[in-house]
Amino acid sequence: MTPGQEENTILVQRNGAVRTVTLNRPDRLNALNPDLLQGLVIELGKIAADRDARVVVITGSGEKSFVAGADIHSMNQLGPRAMADYLELGQRAMRLIETMSQPVIAAVNGFAFGGGLELALACDIIACKESAKIGQPEVDLGIVPGFGGTQRLIHRCGVGSARRLCMTGERLSAADARALGVVDLVFPDGEFRSEVEKLAATIASKAPLAVQGVKRAINRACEGMLLAGLRHEVEEFLRLFGSADREEGMAAFLEKRPPSFTGR
Ligand code: COA
Repeated sequence: MTPGQEENTILVQRNGAVRTVTLNRPDRLNALNPDLLQGLVIELGKIAADRDARVVVITGSGEKSFVAGADIHSMNQLGPRAMADYLELGQRAMRLIETMSQPVIAAVNGFAFGGGLELALACDIIACKESAKIGQPEVDLGIVPGFGGTQRLIHRCGVGSARRLCMTGERLSAADARALGVVDLVFPDGEFRSEVEKLAATIASKAPLAVQGVKRAINRACEGMLLAGLRHEVEEFLRLFGSADREEGMAAFLEKRPPSFTGR
C-alpha cells in the first residue's frame, strides 16, 4: 500500500488549478509520523509534475490543529539510525515544498508546533486562523528543531526573534506571530477557508511562469546560507537525540508531566 494512503492520511483535493493537500491524522493532531511524511513527499511529487497545478495549499484536518509537530510517540521508539532516516525524510519533504516550481500556501488552521511550524516555514506564504498558535517547543523535549526551523525562522523574523522562539519554546498567538513576521496573514476563524481560497485563486490567475520565476528568485537570496545551516541543524539534533535530557523530555510529554532536566 502507498505510504500516507493506508488510512487516508494525505488527502488531495482539486479545485481548478489549485491543489489542496490535507494532512489527516486528527486523533494525533496531524503530527508528522514517517508514514505521513512519506505520503506527503509522494503526493507533492505528483503535484510538482502536474502542469495543470498552479498553486498548492497545505492544511490540517479538523478545526483544532494544523500540525502539532513531529510525532513524539514515533520518535521516542526510534534508534539513532532510524532517527537519522526520519530526519532526512522530514528535511526532504520541506525542501520539496520549498523547491517545487508551484507556490505553496500554508493554511495554518490551528496548532503549528515544532515540525508543524517548520512545515509552514518551508511554504511560500503562511496564512493563519486568528485562533491558531505557533511555536518551536523542542527545548521542552531536550532536542532542537530538526526540519529546518532554526534556519528558516531567521529568514522570516531575524536572528533575535528566532533565538527567543527556539530557546524559550514560547507559544505565540497568530497576531503576535504576524507582528514578528513569522507568519504573513491572519484571518478571522469564520472567514479563514474562504480567504485562503481567494488568495490561492488570485495567485492561480497570474502568469504561472512569472509566479514560478518569483519563487526561484526569492529562494535564491537565502539558499547558500540555508543549505549549510540545515546540515548543521541535523547534526545538532542527532547529537542531542542520544542525551538523557531528550529521554526525559519525551518521557515527560508522554506521561503528561513537566520535565526535569539535568544537562546530560
Ligand atoms: N506527537 C504525537 N502525538 C501528539 C503530538 C505530537 N507532537 N501532539 C499531540 N499529540 C497527541 C497527544 O499525545 C494526545 O494523544 P492521546 O489522546 O493519546 O493522549 C492527542 O494528540 C491530543 O493531544 P492533547 O495534548 O490531549 O491535546 P491538547 O489540546 O490538550 O493540547 C497541544 C494540544 C498541541 C498543545 C499539545 O498536544 C502539545 O503540546 N503537543 C506537543 C507539541 C510539541 O511539542 N511539538 C513539537 C514536537 S517536536
